[in-house]
Amino acid sequence: MGVVPEIVLNSGRGMPVLGMGTATYPEPPEQTVFEAVVHAMELGYRHFDSASVYGSERPLGRAISFAIEKGLIGSRDELFITTKLWCTDMHQDHVLPALRHSLEVLGLEYVDLYLIHHPIRLKGEKKMEMSSDDILPVDIPSVWEGMEECQQQGLAKSIGVSNFTCKKIAELLTHAKVLPAVNQVEMHPVWQQGKLREFCQEKGIHISAYSPLGAFGAFWGSNKVLEAEEIKRIAQSLGKSRAQVLTMDQCFLLKNYWIRALRMFQFFGTHHYIVLIRIHFLHGQVCLRWAFQQGVSFVPKSYNKERLKENMEIFDWCLSAEDMEKLSLLPQERFNLAHPLVSPTSFYKTHADYWDGEV
Ligand code: A2P
Repeated sequence: MGVVPEIVLNSGRGMPVLGMGTATYPEPPEQTVFEAVVHAMELGYRHFDSASVYGSERPLGRAISFAIEKGLIGSRDELFITTKLWCTDMHQDHVLPALRHSLEVLGLEYVDLYLIHHPIRLKGEKKMEMSSDDILPVDIPSVWEGMEECQQQGLAKSIGVSNFTCKKIAELLTHAKVLPAVNQVEMHPVWQQGKLREFCQEKGIHISAYSPLGAFGAFWGSNKVLEAEEIKRIAQSLGKSRAQVLTMDQCFLLKNYWIRALRMFQFFGTHHYIVLIRIHFLHGQVCLRWAFQQGVSFVPKSYNKERLKENMEIFDWCLSAEDMEKLSLLPQERFNLAHPLVSPTSFYKTHADYWDGEV
């Protein structure tokens, strides 16, 4: 599956460690998502993370058909497609129909990974905004049976969970016949999930990082990851050097580069410079490389062509043990606290209640 390394899930299936995230709110126009996905495939992305609640299944499906038609990919089997069961379908009888509906919207016969999106059940319409007023009792073991049925029927090659704490995983494991392949959770240098990662590793469950850049711009996110001084400092200290011939105008166009002019000469009446260019790595790349070196997979969201490319350029260099140590000491903070589900009158009185103390 291209240049991105793969890990093998406990289901025996391979998964590229880098996926393109598609969680956005409000939803962008479908054409934006379609074009970004096609561009990502051209760059070599083969793993795409969607969810029934994101509104990205339809444009993702269209992009897959388009990519096959245009020969960007040989067949659908070259891709790794994830989607998720939304909270309004958290009932055993709804799981299969919900996945069938997602498959119809995606235009696919199977997904590679189907995840329980959150360990809660909500009433009302399917939407990203959650409210404590909509919480209904949920029986996760029976929902999981529905997920197992999806896998047995070949509609999902692997099944897993998202936003599950150690406690919720442990409870699930007392009933599950099929071990979750993945727990997709918020993870970045400012919320490293040490305890959960250790627990899941012990159980053979792969951790996939959502919001690996801190979800800057999203209502659940923050700029504290991309603006962290230590991350900026590491990004600036890292880089690759190469010599190149450029005109003065070209020198001014370079961003994120440090340039030292070695020699100047005239060529067809224009000043040319032999320059030594040092390409700085970017903060986002440091975060993704950090995730890669932790052994997890990650699904950064970007619909921007340059950043989609930047986010792929993290596999031919490495953070030193010293930099990893410095990152491990960053103050920790969970950004996605699930605020709307927590209130003094709700089933979850505090954030610690919702996250089983993992805040
Ligand atoms: P955009 O879509 O305009 O590129 P996360 O993956 O943690 O949810 O973060 C997504 C946010 O980070 C989006 O606002 C996205 O904006 C931005 N983003 C994605 N890649 C990068 C990058 N390499 N550097 C800086 N910001 C990025």
